[in-house]
Amino acid sequence: MSKPGRVTSGIPRLDDLLGGGFIEESAILVRGAPGTGKTTLGLQFLLEGARRGEPGLFISFEEFPQSLYRDALSVGWNLPDFEQAGGLQLLFTSPQVLLQSLSTPHSNLLTTIQAIGTRRVVLDSLTHYTQVISDGHELRRAYHQVISAFRREGVTAIYLGEDMRSDYTNREKGRVSFIVDCLVLLRYLEIDSAIQRALLVLKMRSSAHSTTIHNYTIGQGGLAVGAPIEGKTGLLSGLVKSTIISNVQ
Ligand SMILES: Nc1ncnc2c1ncn2[C@@H]1O[C@H](COP(=O)(O)OP(=O)(O)O)[C@@H](O)[C@H]1O
Ligand SMILES: [Mg+2]
Repeated sequence: MSKPGRVTSGIPRLDDLLGGGFIEESAILVRGAPGTGKTTLGLQFLLEGARRGEPGLFISFEEFPQSLYRDALSVGWNLPDFEQAGGLQLLFTSPQVLLQSLSTPHSNLLTTIQAIGTRRVVLDSLTHYTQVISDGHELRRAYHQVISAFRREGVTAIYLGEDMRSDYTNREKGRVSFIVDCLVLLRYLEIDSAIQRALLVLKMRSSAHSTTIHNYTIGQGGLAVGAPIEGKTGLLSGLVKSTIISNVQ
């Protein structure tokens, strides 16, 4: 059972960290380095919707559709089954064409979203806009256009964002974190010479949420959130550095 006004993520234990699930019709950014499981998390969210009668749309800017089907199968999901049952739609397009479709009233995409009653959308990934738009202002405008369009459609949307290590220090280009309602970070952490996967809900507008860093695993069925990682809080956000600086002062 999901709480009223909440959308079940489909990721075991993540809803608890979110205070009961994602906020319905909100914009969520999931940021992480390559391989942290963003695409998997996005599909998991949509398949949970498909099972609950909440149709989902996965938009990919990747050039090779087959690798999405193959990767999904490796965690046990046969996407064509979900497509045929009508609970999942996959759209392979380009950043520019998506922008065009979203800003054209009655475009095929908008008409389809309304006709199907799409409730959940995943965009993989927002970062592709940085490859086609170099100007910071224009980039922010594009992010606004995309995010506003899905807000207007009343869907709960997850935007995936590719994180590079330099993001710890550089200001995020386009500042999309400020536009979204919820921000989930996926990270690799080196703890005692071993790499762990770590997840943190960094921001959630108008809701209480956990501020604890939890480890998570990827396997059959996708992501599963595990236990809190104790005493390592500075590592995720790069705050370790500033702690050291303030200690020195
Ligand atoms: N069947 C599996 N068992 C365990 N780990 C898996 C499995 N399939 C994929 N993974 C892991 O999932 C990660 C890829 O997830 P993906 O969602 O493509 O990441 P991203 O989109 O962030 O690049 C890889 O790190 C891989 O090790
Ligand atoms: Mg991916």
